[in-house]
Amino acid sequence: MDELVSLCKRRGFIYQSSDIYGGLQGVYDFGPLGVELKNNLKKAWWDSMIYENDNIEGLDSSILTNPLVLRYSGHEETFSDPLVDCKSCGLRFREDQVPDKCKKEDLTEPRQFNLMFKTNVGPIENDESFAYLRPETAQQIFTNFKNVVDSTSKTLPFGIAQIGKAFRNEITPRNFIFRVREFEQMELEYFVVPGTDEEIHNSWVQDRLDWWNKQGVPMKSIELYEVPDKELAHYSKRTVDIMYRFPHGIEELEGIANRADFDLGSHSKKQDDLNIKSKVSENKDSNSKLAIQNDDGDWVVPYVIEPSAGVERGFLAILNEAYNIEELDGGKNRVVLNLKPHLAPVKAAVIPLKKNNEDIVKLAKVVKSQLQKLGLGRIIFENTGNIGKSYRKHDEIGTPVCITIDFESLDNESVTIRDRDTMDQSRVSINELSDFIIKKIKS
Ligand code: GAP
Repeated sequence: MDELVSLCKRRGFIYQSSDIYGGLQGVYDFGPLGVELKNNLKKAWWDSMIYENDNIEGLDSSILTNPLVLRYSGHEETFSDPLVDCKSCGLRFREDQVPDKCKKEDLTEPRQFNLMFKTNVGPIENDESFAYLRPETAQQIFTNFKNVVDSTSKTLPFGIAQIGKAFRNEITPRNFIFRVREFEQMELEYFVVPGTDEEIHNSWVQDRLDWWNKQGVPMKSIELYEVPDKELAHYSKRTVDIMYRFPHGIEELEGIANRADFDLGSHSKKQDDLNIKSKVSENKDSNSKLAIQNDDGDWVVPYVIEPSAGVERGFLAILNEAYNIEELDGGKNRVVLNLKPHLAPVKAAVIPLKKNNEDIVKLAKVVKSQLQKLGLGRIIFENTGNIGKSYRKHDEIGTPVCITIDFESLDNESVTIRDRDTMDQSRVSINELSDFIIKKIKS
């Protein structure tokens, strides 16, 4: 973990937030390379969910959330962790995360601490004027269920997917970006006909494993955890967690829950007409029936299968898998990030062999511009004049190829391509370069 943290800071993937004022615990900023990698990861998820499935729609809902949403969802009552104080050191911990240095006899009895952040909405500050920062993106998918159904005419099964910030006032944020107070989730709520839920749940578990594999997180680093009944969240009929071998231990990367009809049932009006199976509180505030009429004209509350992944945890897992130290001939080491090309923050670096040769520099800029227009992501023009140093830097940040423009390029319009993973160098004509790079990045 220390090596990853150091690489992230040194190369501009991740910084401590508000660093110049001593930071803010459990909050991080993504730097120039971090934002690219993060965007690429989110794009891979969005493409696989929304563009590859005609029955999944996207959504971008608000972060500020009406308290009623989180009252009926059960968060006000249950979204808490047990908190203990250590009378000796004066610090507070989540009950299961007390450090060894604190003695048992110094700890207070645990009490429940709600993890939701509140903020004030509007110019008057009183008990009624607050809103929550959403603790998960899911709830606004449920509250928009009817809007999406009415505007897209979807029939079951169909999904609504969303990527966005979530906030949790974690008692003990820890392990770099693994447990933080501000993070992003990639969540799909997949609405299905009751009775088909168990089979569809299993198929989503498999889909999500396949997807992580395509992002460079292999099965050998993953375990599935069947969450036992006593640990299930209040809404869950069954949950399977994808557990990943993070540098600090095996922990949850993504949860795939069968939320049954709990959420739509909880947020619905006229609940008595809906034959809701989950245990829901009476809803006196909703103005919408969150159900679908079947062919017989009966109202059915769909069941929900929810794959919910954390962007930061995905980022950390991908970085951890990609990070390698290779021993080279001559006893030297090279640090290389073997990222999948579609995730790499920089897709290619175009490097003039001679920093001050006008013709070479000019051609390098033309090549950079030609490749940038392909829309594959960031292509860098890098005029350091030191090819070896540039290669080392781009190995370390995971750039799949470096393209060197040299004197031969001026004569025959070809360039040298240096591959990150094999370090092999080959000659490609500038005419064929675009196809070469497209193939490489999309492979
Ligand atoms: N809507 C369901 C839900 O929010 P969750 O298991 O609480 O379920 C889903 O969260 C995912 O969000 C987790 O698998 C994890 O990847 C990520 N996550 C949750 N809390 C987090 C935190 N404090 N820091 C970073 N990621 C977090």
